[in-house]
Order: sequence, then C-alpha cells, then structure tokens
Amino acid sequence: MARTIAVSTHKGGAGKTVTALAIAAGLASTGQRCLLVDLDPQGHSSMGIGIDVYEPTMKDYFERHPAMSLGDVIQRAPDREHLDVAPCDLRLAWIAEGLSGRPKKEDLLRRGLKVVEPAYDWIVIDTPPSLGTMTQNALTVADYVLIPSPADARAANAIADLLELLHLIKGESFDRFGIVLTKLDARKSRTNAAILAALDRWSPRLLRTTIPISEPLNQAQMARRDIFQFAPESAGAIAYLELIQELQNL
Ligand SMILES: Nc1ncnc2c1ncn2[C@@H]1O[C@H](COP(=O)(O)OP(=O)(O)OP(=O)(O)O)[C@@H](O)[C@H]1O
Ligand SMILES: [Mg+2]
Repeated sequence: MARTIAVSTHKGGAGKTVTALAIAAGLASTGQRCLLVDLDPQGHSSMGIGIDVYEPTMKDYFERHPAMSLGDVIQRAPDREHLDVAPCDLRLAWIAEGLSGRPKKEDLLRRGLKVVEPAYDWIVIDTPPSLGTMTQNALTVADYVLIPSPADARAANAIADLLELLHLIKGESFDRFGIVLTKLDARKSRTNAAILAALDRWSPRLLRTTIPISEPLNQAQMARRDIFQFAPESAGAIAYLELIQELQNL
C-alpha cells in the first residue's frame, strides 16, 4: 500500500510546494515509486518539476470523474526515474467552486487514487493556500498530514485552523500529522524561541527536522529542477533528506 502524505496549510508561501517537490523527488531518487499530485491551481509543483502541462489535468479528472480515471492525467516527470506527476493549472480553479454542490465532493481524490495507488510506494499531495475543496480532498485521502510552518509570528493561528478542519474530516482522535518548521533563519534566535513558545501546545507534533532558509531552494524552482538535481550539497537539500528519513520512520 502506498503511503499518502498531504502537504498542507492555508498559510500562503509557507513552503508547501518546495516541501512537496523535495519529498517526492528525494524519495524517487532512492528508487521508491512516487506520485506527486498537484492540487494547487497555481500549478507550482507541476512547473517546478519541469513538465509541460498538457490536458487532461486534475481539473479534467475532478470535472469528469467517474467517466475519466485519475490514471489518465498522470505524466512522467522528465529526467528522472520513479517519479510521476498528476498536474494541474489555473483551470482547476474554474471548476473547484462548481464542485461545491456535488455530494461527497471531498472524496473524489480518494476514489481516483484507489485505482492508481498499487503502482506507487508514496503519494505526495501539494495543496493550495486555502481550506477549500481541494485541501479537503487531500486531507480526506491522506494517511499523514505534513504541515509546513514558516518561523513567523502567525504560525500558530494557521496551524490551529488547519487542525480544526483536519479533525472535522478525520475525527478528533486523528493524530497522524506533523509540523515542520520552514524558512528558519538561525540568526534570529530570539524570534525563533518566541515562535517555538507559541507552538508549545503542539510540541509533540513538531518534527525533529527543521528547514533553514536556503537560497538554492528558491533558485531550483526557477530552474525547474528539484533541489537534489540543482544543488545536492546545499543546506536545503541536506535538510530535506533528513526530513525524508524522519517521515520514513514515522
Ligand atoms: N527554505 C527555503 N529557503 C528559501 N526559500 C524558500 C524556502 N522554502 C520556500 N522558499 C521560497 O519561498 C516561496 C514560497 O515557497 P512555496 O512556494 O514552497 O510556498 P507555498 O506554501 O507552496 O506557497 P503557496 O501558498 O503560494 O502555494 C517560494 O519562492 C520558494 O522558492
Ligand atoms: Mg504552493
């Protein structure tokens, strides 16, 4: 059975896409079969992994299921083995709202993935900065939810909102989630200490790995390469390898 990780927070710019790309590419580079599902109409994961998005995309899957299978939208990631992508682009936003009247709309992704799942060891889902239908689909199917939280003042509010939705969807006792601190600037030790204090109630859920600010993570996005292709020795690449290790042992 594939393990399905949703990378999610409605806080914008938190590092969801960078994290989803790094985990998916890093796992694939160790020979594990990985599917990256892009549920953000901004299409940043699809772009970041370097594919040319062609139709059908996740928009067509959501619009046409069950006539269309999720397998029909999957593309191979270029220059890599073991890594596939279920891409999307802005058109996903056009139909996401239209799904709101559809019964069990938050279950559509789970139904589609059930069919393709045997081909993968890992499924990694990048989500948009919202708590809407796409994020609900990701949380519904996830067996682990990874919440990237940049080390800034409002981190705790975003986590509380996401957890409220997560517990509504999965039940109060669901505890398969972890928080990873991203964009950490080690020089700001007082700020970091204050943020850790604000996150104190979730301290058992804080992952050991933290992700430092590392400019190559930014540049890799622009080069449309993953961090392990672009700058494998960078602090960002090393931190994401450590995160992958930690996730594999959970
Ligand atoms: N650790 C890091 N060091 C340096 N830059 C980073 C790091 N993590 C993310 N970035 C940069 O910060 C920006 C936001 O990151 P990212 O796109 O991953 O966030 P996001 O949560 O997916 O955003 P959105 O909510 O818009 O989907 C990007 O330009 C990315 O390249
Ligand atoms: Mg993103």
